[in-house]
Amino acid sequence: MALPVVLDVDTGVDDACAILLAALHPALDLRAVTCVGGNADVDSVVANTLTVLDAAERPDVVVARGAERPLLEEAVDARHVHGQDGMGDLDWAKSTREPDARHAVEVLRDVLLEAAAGGEDQLVTLVPLAPLTNVALLLRTYPEAARGLREVVFMGGAAHVGNATASAEFNVFHDPESAAVVLDACAALGVRVTMYGLDVFYAPRISKATAAKLVSAGGHGPGELAGRLVGFQCARFGADSATIGDAGAVCTVIEPAGVRRERLPVRVELAGTWSRGRTIVDRRDWGGDLSHDPHGPARSTIDVCLGVDAQRYATLWLDTVSGGMR
Ligand code: RIB
Ligand code: CA
Repeated sequence: MALPVVLDVDTGVDDACAILLAALHPALDLRAVTCVGGNADVDSVVANTLTVLDAAERPDVVVARGAERPLLEEAVDARHVHGQDGMGDLDWAKSTREPDARHAVEVLRDVLLEAAAGGEDQLVTLVPLAPLTNVALLLRTYPEAARGLREVVFMGGAAHVGNATASAEFNVFHDPESAAVVLDACAALGVRVTMYGLDVFYAPRISKATAAKLVSAGGHGPGELAGRLVGFQCARFGADSATIGDAGAVCTVIEPAGVRRERLPVRVELAGTWSRGRTIVDRRDWGGDLSHDPHGPARSTIDVCLGVDAQRYATLWLDTVSGGMR
């Protein structure tokens, strides 16, 4: 029985790698992909997402346009990383398919309520790979939709490092309020959460040589697109390899044993001058004695990924997007 999944994306070179994996792997039943402003403006994200699903020959997957900007912060893109069009400026044929007429939050609500009515094996694993604006709006506007959730596995945050700033990861930094709302709502609604953060994000990598093999196979299909995406990142950073990034979060849904996780209290810093958007992962070993701590226990305790079998996930991604080519 394939596992129902929904992705929330800001496509995004590595979001594209994640969408290819989710669309092609037989263990997953990709129901919908919802879009939010992040790496690029939301309309570019929609266009890129439709293009990737065309390459994967998945016109059945619903795509919906969501929040244009974070709840409080101004929209700030990452074109310096992902290119002007947000997906590597590959000059890949754009999709002619239109997104769903509903807003992303309404699509999420409808898909989750349908899943809730379908029984345990229909529950959806929601995989946010972007600023959490859509997910926060969903859980505060339609909390009943959480009945259709199996789990939330999000790419974001970090226990130790930052990338957008010295202390904060891009997805959480750009909408810290939404990240805080999602953790709070999931705790209140009893939804299990896994954080695939920067502590593992950069480890699963594909070499430039492997990417070139994917491109040389041609065919203008998922393998060639995957190779072009990895090749763009290698060129962008002058590196011999590139991370599969967001696709690693999808790997944890397919093969959960590929990550080492600890169940830890997590808060989002909203006020700090230099630390706003940091995920404060409490790794203290207190034996449960927090009585002296003025902050008290965090409301949210989640599974934090602290280690990853990088080769296992890189191989999983490569085998899937290449149709088994090695
Ligand atoms: O910090 C990495 C995250 O920010 C990834 O999701 C990447 O696509 C960007 O959205
Ligand atoms: Ca992303």
